Parts: sequence; structure tokens; C-alpha cells
Amino acid sequence: MLILELDQSVALVTGGAKGLGFAIATYLAGKGSKVSVVDLDAEAIAALPPSMDGYVLDVTSRADAKTVVNEIIQRHGRIDILVNNAGVIFSEPFVNIMNPKGMMHDYERFRRSITANLDSVFIMTSSVVEKMVTLRTKGVVVSISSISACGNEGQTAYSAAKAGVNAMTRTWSKELGRMGIRCNAVAPGFIDTPSTRSALNESIIKHIQSNTPLRRLGHAEEVAQAVASVITNDFINGVVLDVNGGLTI
Ligand SMILES: NC(=O)c1ccc[n+]([C@@H]2O[C@H](COP(=O)([O-])OP(=O)(O)OC[C@H]3O[C@@H](n4cnc5c(N)ncnc54)[C@H](O)[C@@H]3O)[C@@H](O)[C@H]2O)c1
Repeated sequence: MLILELDQSVALVTGGAKGLGFAIATYLAGKGSKVSVVDLDAEAIAALPPSMDGYVLDVTSRADAKTVVNEIIQRHGRIDILVNNAGVIFSEPFVNIMNPKGMMHDYERFRRSITANLDSVFIMTSSVVEKMVTLRTKGVVVSISSISACGNEGQTAYSAAKAGVNAMTRTWSKELGRMGIRCNAVAPGFIDTPSTRSALNESIIKHIQSNTPLRRLGHAEEVAQAVASVITNDFINGVVLDVNGGLTI
């Protein structure tokens, strides 16, 4: 039997004002979930449809995260679903002999990428799980990882952060499972979003498509569907679900 019915659920989607996060928030809201979206982008938060509550939040700020989670709990009584989607795709080669300013990957940019993509998941999950445990509610955490967690050329920091997300997911699935809190990740490959189009030029996109058995990029809705399936299946725990058309880097 499914314990978590989406139409009776309260969900929080981070980075949900645009891109994949917005597709996930839209999918969950369409299934009747009461969706709150947090995002850095105030303009995109103001433009959310009335079916979603929006909060401007930097998910790397522990204090602000706690404040917003408290506000959502005050409004809805609990949070059943946390989708850790906020993240920033970042590429920089480890060694670049053509760079006159410094040959090696910059350490400050490494730290920033780790903070944006890994610390953010720790901070938000900690804030929400604390409430699930103290309120004795069950729930699900789904974190958006990436195919880059396997180790993608030119993405030291981003790959490390996403591999860390996978490791935290498996660790939490073991620690929190006995409390009725499941933790899973969804690892998209290359999805046709504005962020992919701005990060990769047309010839790289063509190369990726020809190496993908399904010969195309994914759609944001396909990632949203995968998120919904790990939320609603009550025996899926500790899984990193690949959504990449069969491409493995
Ligand atoms: N697009 C892809 O092909 C792809 C593939 C694999 C994984 N991912 C992952 O999916 C997630 C979403 O990616 P996207 O392509 O939709 O990116 P995007 O840039 O379009 O959207 C990310 C959203 O997160 C928000 N955000 C970023 N940092 C934040 C912070 N500190 N606090 C609050 N909000 C913040 C942004 O404002 C934005 O609305 C990311 O975690 C990304 O790593 C994307």
C-alpha cells in the first residue's frame, strides 16, 4: 500500500522557480500536492503560479533555511516531501595550460561549487528532517544528483559535489529509514533546459545526442516523473535513479 499519496502531501522544492525544479514543482502541484518553492531568484518567485507558495531563500544559509522551513510548517503543519533541486552547473578543467592567470583549477571556485551543490543539500535536509523527527511525521527526501557524479571531464567540483549527494542519500536512507523517512536521488543526464543550452554549445549537444542510445536530450517532465515515482513508491529507499536515456559518461 502507498503511504504517501501526492494529493494529500505537503512538498518543498528548492530551486523550484525555474528549470528542472519548476517542472518538478508543477508536476507535484498537478497531482494535488501543496507545493512550496524556495529560490534565490526573487523575480522568478514572484512569477510563480497561484498553485504554489514561493519564498526567496539562499539554500546555503543555515539560519535562513530554518526560518523558511518554520514558516512552511506554521502554514501547513508539516513537510512530507523535500526535493533538493537547487544547484549550479559548473565546469572548469583541473589543468588549463592556456590560462595566463593560473594553470590549475581555482580553489575558491571549487569551494563555491561544493557549497552550492553539496552543502545546500545537507543544510536543507537537516532543517526539514529535524521537523519530521520532532513532529513524528514520515516523509521522503529526493535530491537531484547528476550523471556527472560518475566523474565528468572538466567538472571536478560539480562531479565531487554530486557524488557527495549520492553518498549522503545512501547514508541517510540507512539512518532515517527506521524513522519512516526515505531518501533517494534522481540523477539526470543531459536534459533540454536553458541551463544545459547555455552551458554547452551546439556541437557538444550533438555529440551527446549521438552517444545517447535514445539519440536525444531528456525532457524536464521526464525528470519530474522520476522524482514522483521515487516519492510515491514506499519501498524505494537509498536509490540513485539514473534518468539519462542510457548514456553513461
Ligand atoms: N539541466 C540538466 O541537464 C541537469 C542535468 C543533471 C543535473 N541537473 C541538476 O538539476 C538541478 C536543476 O538544474 P537546472 O538545469 O534546472 O538549473 P537552473 O539553473 O535552470 O535552475 C536552478 C534553480 O536553482 C536556483 N538556485 C541556485 N542556487 C540556489 C541557492 N543557493 N539557493 C536557492 N536557489 C538556488 C536558481 O535560482 C534556479 O532557479 C541542479 O541541481 C542541477 O545540478 C541538471
